[in-house]
Amino acid sequence: MKKLRSQNWFGKTGKDGLIYRSWMKNQGIPDEEFRGKPVIGICNTWSELTPCNAHFRELAESIKRGVSEAGGFPVEFPVMSLGETLIKPTAMLYRNLASMDVEESIRANPVDGVVLMCGCDKTTPSLVMGACSVNIPTLVVSGGPMLTGKYKGRDIGTSDVWRFDNAVRNGEMSEEELRVAEACMSRSRGHCAVMGTASTMACMVESLGLSFPGNAAIPAADSRRKVLAQLSGQRIVKMVEEDLKPSDILVREAFENAIITNAAIGGSTNFIIHLLAIAGRIGVKLTLEDFDKLSANIPLVANLQPSGKYFMEDLYYAGGLPAVMKELDKYLRNVTTVNGRKVKENYASAECYNRDVIATAEKPFNPLSGVAILKGNLCENGCVIKPSAATPKLMRHKGKAVVFEDIEDYKARIDDPALDVDENSVLVLKNVGPKGYPGMPEVGNMGLPKKLLAKGITDMVRISDGRMSGTGFGTVILHASPEAALGGNFALVRDGDTISLDVAARSLTIDVSEEEFKKRKANWKPIHKEYNRGYVHFYQTHVEQAHLGADMDFLKGSSGSEVTRDSH
Ligand code: FES
Repeated sequence: MKKLRSQNWFGKTGKDGLIYRSWMKNQGIPDEEFRGKPVIGICNTWSELTPCNAHFRELAESIKRGVSEAGGFPVEFPVMSLGETLIKPTAMLYRNLASMDVEESIRANPVDGVVLMCGCDKTTPSLVMGACSVNIPTLVVSGGPMLTGKYKGRDIGTSDVWRFDNAVRNGEMSEEELRVAEACMSRSRGHCAVMGTASTMACMVESLGLSFPGNAAIPAADSRRKVLAQLSGQRIVKMVEEDLKPSDILVREAFENAIITNAAIGGSTNFIIHLLAIAGRIGVKLTLEDFDKLSANIPLVANLQPSGKYFMEDLYYAGGLPAVMKELDKYLRNVTTVNGRKVKENYASAECYNRDVIATAEKPFNPLSGVAILKGNLCENGCVIKPSAATPKLMRHKGKAVVFEDIEDYKARIDDPALDVDENSVLVLKNVGPKGYPGMPEVGNMGLPKKLLAKGITDMVRISDGRMSGTGFGTVILHASPEAALGGNFALVRDGDTISLDVAARSLTIDVSEEEFKKRKANWKPIHKEYNRGYVHFYQTHVEQAHLGADMDFLKGSSGSEVTRDSH
């Protein structure tokens, strides 16, 4: 085994060694722990303000037990935790900040390997991005989904938030009923139980090979989650001995596997932005077009909300992600994973126990899957739609634009009875992109006008430079790039312009000539707010566009695990 980096601290003699060890000993740690044992950092996003990760202190104990059993020395440390439901204005604003916290915390400390404890949406990409930029042996343990919600005899989950909202606005549900429903929905520990962004991210790390097989779907409340955590703790010690690093696992083929798997499970559109950012950190070339190309012929085999019917708990009982990946065998590449085995060995013995939840590749649940990347003169650098969550008859559509210049404009006018809008209109929301909002919130599946809801309209074509919650659905076009704040064509759309969508042809166009665009551009002024201090200023200065992963421009690549200076 090569020399442990932790020995650059704990293996030192004299004053330096004393300082590194002595203060650790105030925690009651015996001297033998410092004598050449692999030190395993347990990077914990526990927080009571991140309810999806609130059980992580208990889960960390299982990981620690595994580390100790395998002869390692576990040390748990906190990093910035991003709770999707409480953080304002949006957790995405802080994904890059959290990733910097993770990167610097790992590099600066005497750890030889790290277990990333991920759960709520952004806690997965931020931790993986940070760890990739250090590149020491890394393994992910996810917190697991909640149990399926139960309300008035039926299964509910986060996708029902949008249905309940529409029902309340439409007078079909009272505020009292809503209070009952919200308690019924979140009835156990864990993250959102649908194939929202958190579940998508858990499937992403599993299909990338960064976690044990089965990691994505075991419910948080199931004791087998703790078993997986303990086994992961054992394994990370061996990974240090083998020097198996993220760069050995996250090769181009692993990213391809993740894209293919994401298509088959109907994963969140946020997957695109986070995977691009992770690829940027580990130095794998990945483009927006890769997502379309690689997922084009992949059938949707997992029947999970919001694209289908079931919940993550059902996926686990049906065989979990390994059973899904086994269906994709002919598409997947056989690369190494954290447990030291190849992907195909990991799912070779998987079985499907419920074909209603996991269909076969030959008879898929839906032939439409994955994401489509749209190009045309409306968004020069592309935009994204999730066909499996859209209304089939709207996938080819032409309509007049009803434009909202920002989210405040939308809120002020959407329910105005005088708003000139009908079901054929195309709702356009600007200035909710990375720089413009700033932070690119999940508002892309904006609610429909009240007067159309009252008519029984449930979906319309909507376009924005923002994102959509992984639990959301509808014919929603997202991640318009360049965003409105940069003054591209999307910034110049006006009420009454005709927008044409053709998902099959991958096109999104607007009937505005180049000449007219030039005239509009000459009079265009940005309306978004520029912040002049603190992190938000820093973010607005450096964040890249959605089609590049919305990472900071200076965070591409890796700085490695060497500490820059050694002052002791
Ligand atoms: Fe945390 Fe949905 S709010 S995963």
